[in-house]
Amino acid sequence: MNNLVDSAEQLARGMGLPPRLKHFLGEVYFQFVLWRTSRQIATLAEGQGLDRKTLDAMRRAWRNPLYTATLDYLEELSHLAASAEGPVLECGSGLSTLLLGLLTQRRGLRVWSLEHLPRWHDRVAMSLQKCRIENVELCLAPLRNYDAYSWYAPPLERMPKDFRLVVCDGPPGTTPGGRYGLLPIMGEHLAPDCVILFDDASRQGEAQVLRRWAEETGIRVNLVDAGRGLAVVTLS
Ligand SMILES: C[S@@+](CC[C@H](N)C(=O)[O-])C[C@H]1O[C@@H](n2cnc3c(N)ncnc32)[C@H](O)[C@@H]1O
Repeated sequence: MNNLVDSAEQLARGMGLPPRLKHFLGEVYFQFVLWRTSRQIATLAEGQGLDRKTLDAMRRAWRNPLYTATLDYLEELSHLAASAEGPVLECGSGLSTLLLGLLTQRRGLRVWSLEHLPRWHDRVAMSLQKCRIENVELCLAPLRNYDAYSWYAPPLERMPKDFRLVVCDGPPGTTPGGRYGLLPIMGEHLAPDCVILFDDASRQGEAQVLRRWAEETGIRVNLVDAGRGLAVVTLS
């Protein structure tokens, strides 16, 4: 079986193949890896996340390495999503959106994902549809200027008021204020014991956001792995 999977992966990488065929094979291979992952999820015990090998296979099959969260981040996300007890908010969509949907759907939870780029929104929406992941509300939320910073313009009136987990991997670092807007804009929609999984915490701009949040709101920032830039933030 492993040999077969390795051959399929090599074929999907398609060195020397015409681009359209290469793309087609890549899509078929991704569907296969995703199907295998969803079968594995069905066998996981309550609260158990996916193993690194499976996440690595998903990451490679997704074929967007520059923008996709690291394996460490996906591993932490997988554990938190598997034990989340309420709705999940995501800032910045991608492979993480599909994983969040898969890991929470059997417990009837909903995932709200904010995406500012129309083309990327359509790409992720199509993957959700192809993979029949129906518990994700993927919102096209353009970046808006809130005077002191920019952040997504989310459909607040439709959104839950008790998010228990936030996966914070956007907006991009070049956005004025970076990820700062999450707490002022979404604060009233987060449950008191909400956990925020924060990527790139060792980058200067993101570290500054964490410091500002801590000063202004008293939240507790727990650097899971400062070297690799992963932070878990608790509100209480
Ligand atoms: C760090 S990425 C989010 C990655 C996502 N959380 C994941 O793990 O797959 C942040 C933003 O980059 C943008 N982005 C993702 N892939 C892109 C691509 N291939 N080209 C341009 N922008 C991209 C999207 O707007 C996305 O919300």
